[in-house]
Amino acid sequence: MSNNKITSHGQLPFFILTFILTFVMAPPHHVGSESRLASPSDQPYRTSFHFQVPKNWMNDPNGPMYYNGVYHFFYQHNPSGPLFHPRMYWGHSVSRDLINWTPLDPAFAPTEPFDINGCWSGSATILPGNKPVMLYTGLDTENCQVQNLAVPKDLSDPHLREWVKHTGNPIINVPDGIKHDDFRDPSTAWHADDGKWRIIVGSRREGTGMAFLYRSEDFVNWSMWESPLYEVAGSGIWECPDFFPVCVDSNNGVDTSVMNSRVKHVLKMAAFDCGRDYYLIGNYNPENEHFVPQSELTLGSLRYDYGKFYASKSFFDPVKNRRILMGWVNESDSDEDAHAKGWSGLQSFPRSIWLDQNQKQLVQWPIEEFKMLHENEVSFKNKSLEAGSLHEILGITASQADVNVSFKLTNLEEAEELDLSGIDPQVFCSEMDASKKGKFGPFGILALASHDLSEQTAISFRVYKNNGRYTVLMCSDQSRSSTRNGLDKTTYGAFVDIDPQQDEISLRTLIDHSIVESFGGGGKTCITARVYPTLAIGDEAHLFAFNYGTESVLISELSAWSVKKAHINIEETNGGAY
Ligand code: FRU
Repeated sequence: MSNNKITSHGQLPFFILTFILTFVMAPPHHVGSESRLASPSDQPYRTSFHFQVPKNWMNDPNGPMYYNGVYHFFYQHNPSGPLFHPRMYWGHSVSRDLINWTPLDPAFAPTEPFDINGCWSGSATILPGNKPVMLYTGLDTENCQVQNLAVPKDLSDPHLREWVKHTGNPIINVPDGIKHDDFRDPSTAWHADDGKWRIIVGSRREGTGMAFLYRSEDFVNWSMWESPLYEVAGSGIWECPDFFPVCVDSNNGVDTSVMNSRVKHVLKMAAFDCGRDYYLIGNYNPENEHFVPQSELTLGSLRYDYGKFYASKSFFDPVKNRRILMGWVNESDSDEDAHAKGWSGLQSFPRSIWLDQNQKQLVQWPIEEFKMLHENEVSFKNKSLEAGSLHEILGITASQADVNVSFKLTNLEEAEELDLSGIDPQVFCSEMDASKKGKFGPFGILALASHDLSEQTAISFRVYKNNGRYTVLMCSDQSRSSTRNGLDKTTYGAFVDIDPQQDEISLRTLIDHSIVESFGGGGKTCITARVYPTLAIGDEAHLFAFNYGTESVLISELSAWSVKKAHINIEETNGGAY
């Protein structure tokens, strides 16, 4: 995974080092697969409905926003090659439906002393009077990370193609005592009753990760608040922090400045040292700038996604009163593969996010516009999956599909007794791969499976009981996802906070050639994986429901669709998708 640009930031955390030793130092791949991928007409790993660029490198989502009928999406982009390079540009695409995207010229290029070495991540804010502004990190002539402001050149251009960098940039410099390259990724701003704008910026002091808070009356002059909004010793640098309100009594999203007793606040940080997006839910008081989370940040804290998903960003969509989240889904193949493909990086499918009724976690679900791409629905109800059975879902394009299934468990008292407290679910899923039988589980689906099952990505559940309480575990097992070597085939796992006595166990999975994005428990637990099958490609891919446990489970309902190809970043003479 040397194409993971994290390695370019200088330090090599232990897990990355282990990974490099395991995969990058591994013998080169056999020549066959390299040459097959080299042909531009043969791109089995390009996706059909996930946001990606025609070629070259993409990482973080930047400044997503809605303005005058148009959704804007910006992204970290290296236009010169398929690998990370710090001299980043902001790629820019527009859409009317968040599904089909029209590419535009980069919004920012590294041209000025305050960003000459790279235009790094940032966020949009819509100021009163419907005026979008952008804050982003620039790498200046000395490679110092500074915060910059830019505004659209012409607000009457529906595409907001050109952006003007503020002449007074940088507007915020590295704080005293902070390393010049440990200060980045300004958030969307919010304001409180005192009329002041606030933003947070990711940073660290020694090993303590933090989000510095800045306040401003005019969006140009910013002063640092006396203490960070939040900091956690030992958590390493925080990248791409996000801070937003969620409603306690509704699934609707609200503007980032909404503050009342009906909201709680979410603080999200991309924890660089472990490559994970964690979030905390808590209460925020703008008078003393205290954010008090309901629980502490630990390695086991809540994550948006327990697979591959990083540096995400959310925005408020006023059209449908919802908050939308997108995150960067990196490749799991090598630098050589990136050169052969000519591109690297996907964005997750846009997700609506809201606070769960229990107020303990967020829930995520693919945006409803997805249904415009659905075709060939197949569905059935009440099918028993006996112990050890496999059931193929026929009638859809299994390499480009949306599948939504609910499992019902009876005889739950038969569940295995196991105390999973203190267990790392990812480690547990890796040890108990999908071939290992339990009582209830593994059951779930096999995505991107070859007809002989030598390739398959198993997304599955296991249920255990302990002291009369049930624990549901969700795993995404990539260990047999490809016959190729030299790939990151890490198995992912997480708990799903549902009670199988009350709730059916649901799984929705978006399958798109080289990405498998799964939503367990109605979106309470999400796991995204990248896979590179060699056999289960295109029409050769199959989809199965399976139950390898010794107890039978009931599919109370299953619906699956083929997914049409969206128009994503394809230049078209007829005006394109947009
Ligand atoms: C997160 C990140 C950000 C930075 C950007 C550079 O992936 O490292 O902190 O702004 O990527 O591309």
